[in-house]
Amino acid sequence: MTTIAVLGGGSLGLLLAGKLKASGCSCVLWTRTDSQAALVNSVGITIEDHTGNSLNSVTIHACSLEEVTSSDNRVVLLAVKQTALTSELLTKLASIIPVGGALVLFQNGVGHVELLEQALPGRRLIVAVTTEGAHRLDATTVRHTGHGETRLSDNSDIDPHLLSFLEQSLKQAGFSAFLSKELGEAILRKLLINAIINPLTAIMRIRNGELTKSAARLELMKALFDETLDILRDYGLGKQSEAELWDTVLNVCSATSHNESSMLQDVVLHKETEIEYINGAICRIATQQGKQAPWNEAVTALIKAIN
Ligand code: PAF
Repeated sequence: MTTIAVLGGGSLGLLLAGKLKASGCSCVLWTRTDSQAALVNSVGITIEDHTGNSLNSVTIHACSLEEVTSSDNRVVLLAVKQTALTSELLTKLASIIPVGGALVLFQNGVGHVELLEQALPGRRLIVAVTTEGAHRLDATTVRHTGHGETRLSDNSDIDPHLLSFLEQSLKQAGFSAFLSKELGEAILRKLLINAIINPLTAIMRIRNGELTKSAARLELMKALFDETLDILRDYGLGKQSEAELWDTVLNVCSATSHNESSMLQDVVLHKETEIEYINGAICRIATQQGKQAPWNEAVTALIKAIN
């Protein structure tokens, strides 16, 4: 039986590992610290719903990434932020994931796929785009604050059995998971969503649902949306109309209304944010296009200044 190894004990990592294990999947958690692995081994992972009711309490084997020597027979779900993709982590991954081994990338923003392709040649990289909302309460407890969708890249060079195993495992764990041949579009759509929700909720220190609660906030969102969409359109975001994309942003705010965005969670904890991979990346794309991006520059500067 193929085991799924979830790398990362943050909000998404705990949610994925806990739900997969609770659904009967063979799943282990690889953390970045020994102390978190020891805690998970002693008390398991607790998953709460958005109101704080306990949904699952699962026993799962955890170990620190340092202890892992091989990923044989395992598919690795990489559930760490782009800020954690240091050369040390990439070197470790290259040493444990054999050529031909599979890695599923759950990062927000852009740039990580190219980085991992370069660092891990010959590995099968499956890109995942998720809009699940999760909030880590402590090293072993996560609150599932919003239900979203998870799309996995359906690449012809990846074994279809492996893709269907991943899709079925995620579905069995209660996630809305789909294979998608057009993941480039989904990545850019998610970038657009994160470029609006993440910096604005972090600057204003509000939950996702509060973003749409006043005309002034909606106006701010729309200004950032218009500028970002114009840049991403010329970068390949082509399928949906402006109105559909605006509705998508509003729907994510409402589906994850209780959620503190990942950037707000980072700002509150004074952790490095993903701003450079989201709005910072949009500013760099705009420069390549010979365009100005004053709203994206402003939110990038503000997030750096308040952190
Ligand atoms: O980064 C996040 O927080 C999430 O991607 C999302 C979907 C905006 C929900 O909070």
